[in-house]
Amino acid sequence: MTAVGIDAVEIWTGKLALDLAETFAPRKGDDPEKYTKGLGLYESSFPDAYEDIVTMGANAAYRLMERKDLEPEDVGRIDVATESAFDNSKPVSTYIAGCLEQVYDGDFHHANKGERKFACIAGTQSLDDACNWIRAGRNRGRGALVIASDTALYARGDAGEATQGAGAVAMWVTEDPSLVTLSTEQGYGSADETDFLKPNQQFPSVDGKRSIQVYLARMREALVDFESVAGKVGPDDYAYAPFHTPYPGMVRKAALLAYRHTIRDTDVEDDLADEIGRQPRREDYEDEEAFDDAIRDYMDDLKEQPEYRAWYDAHIEPTLAISEHVGNWYTGSVHLARMAALYHAAEADRDLAGEELLVGSYGSGAQAEIHAETVQDGWREELDDLAIFDRIDRRYDLTFEEYEQVHDRHNHEKQSELEPFTTPEDEFVFDGWGPMNERKYRYVE
Ligand code: CAA
Repeated sequence: MTAVGIDAVEIWTGKLALDLAETFAPRKGDDPEKYTKGLGLYESSFPDAYEDIVTMGANAAYRLMERKDLEPEDVGRIDVATESAFDNSKPVSTYIAGCLEQVYDGDFHHANKGERKFACIAGTQSLDDACNWIRAGRNRGRGALVIASDTALYARGDAGEATQGAGAVAMWVTEDPSLVTLSTEQGYGSADETDFLKPNQQFPSVDGKRSIQVYLARMREALVDFESVAGKVGPDDYAYAPFHTPYPGMVRKAALLAYRHTIRDTDVEDDLADEIGRQPRREDYEDEEAFDDAIRDYMDDLKEQPEYRAWYDAHIEPTLAISEHVGNWYTGSVHLARMAALYHAAEADRDLAGEELLVGSYGSGAQAEIHAETVQDGWREELDDLAIFDRIDRRYDLTFEEYEQVHDRHNHEKQSELEPFTTPEDEFVFDGWGPMNERKYRYVE
């Protein structure tokens, strides 16, 4: 079967930054370490006054097309994943195509465009759709632009306010890609849940604590389902495991669960048994409560073991290096985690080609997907032009009062006027409203 996957990636961060420990925590009366140590977040990205999901997505896509020397005729499909859409009918991909048509001679009339919705997992679903379109032989030699773009804002005062973020990830999906191929094996965990939803409202209704449990339950199901097609997963089978990262602390919880699952009935479990015993088995307990207590105790001990710490530092921690400085990008989040892992390998001068990643995506409501990816020979060159950490460093650092103004600017019910904090250059910007309440955009040289 043809190898299909991601050939190249571009990342566009919202151009403003809120320092959570220095600026946000003091105004909330919180200990800064709740953010840096508890949630594992340092800063959040925010869109400037002239940015939104369309500009961020179009800017990421334009950079990607320029870098890969692509013309509109090379693009057979534009799929946008978002949970921040502002229109229930016209997809964001049409706006993005309209932006790109301002800067290219050709057009995208031939390209199939759509918008995917399933909370944060929609970015991975769009990626799957694009891969399947190519595998089905319908692409006529063209590639797909898959764009995950979100402005992840919560209502002021909501507990989720600490985990906000804004940015876009554009992925170029092709046959014989340079970066990673996707496995055809996938595992799912999917159930009707009300952990996080936006019933025709901009800011989510969130049951935060429950959302953590739902994430873990669905991810576990997805891993078991993946193993049913791909075989048992061992703790060291994959170079990195990029997970959906609403905040790094969530991934810490998921990682411990994944480790416990993957070492069960292995030599690692046996080796650890002298220190912390073997994992509790359901059949050894009279009721669910006693079993849950035993599992909790085992997990508390497991996370202190040097074997676990070393595994976590090698396979998980590196995936968080971007997210901890930009917050939650919803649909783009797991795709940031993948790129953070590849950066880590590049910095360590590691030869990653041929190695595998275990990618865990999650969307509230709720569904998790696990699939594997194989790193391709061209992966290293694809990272060189990305320079995401430079762009993260160049963001404008907001005061708390400025943050409040930015939040109001992007609050659909307020949309208050705001002078930009940064000057746009070589990028698409929001340019006001048209007669049918449509958003307008222009390119600024
Ligand atoms: N020093 C060190 N750690 C501290 C601390 C301190 N001074 N103070 C608190 N902490 C720790 C807490 O112990 C906690 O860690 P554990 O969960 O490991 O115990 C962590 O910091 C957070 O503290 P709280 O639980 O007190 O924080 P909170 O009540 O304000 O809410 C939250 C946390 C529920 C995650 C909230 O931010 C939220 O609702 N976020 C949005 C929902 C979300 O992201 N859910 C994740 C799963 S759903 C998903 O993944 C989809 C998605 O993208 C939204």
